[in-house]
Amino acid sequence: MYVCLCRGITDQDIKDAIANGAESYRDVRDMLDLGTCCGRCVPEARMIISDEVSQIVARLAVAA
Ligand code: FES
Repeated sequence: MYVCLCRGITDQDIKDAIANGAESYRDVRDMLDLGTCCGRCVPEARMIISDEVSQIVARLAVAA
């Protein structure tokens, strides 16, 4: 699913960025150039990033 139409960035692109070390919206923005045109994608991108990071933290807590 496309999240950022201006840059052609999908939710999977965002998840891949997190898997490659991004930990925040700022990290993802810097890696993908996300949200740097009209900015309409920023709220949805922030939710995806928050959900994904929360899921990773939960998996790490269960594994610990
Ligand atoms: S939709 Fe992402 S910057 Fe416009």
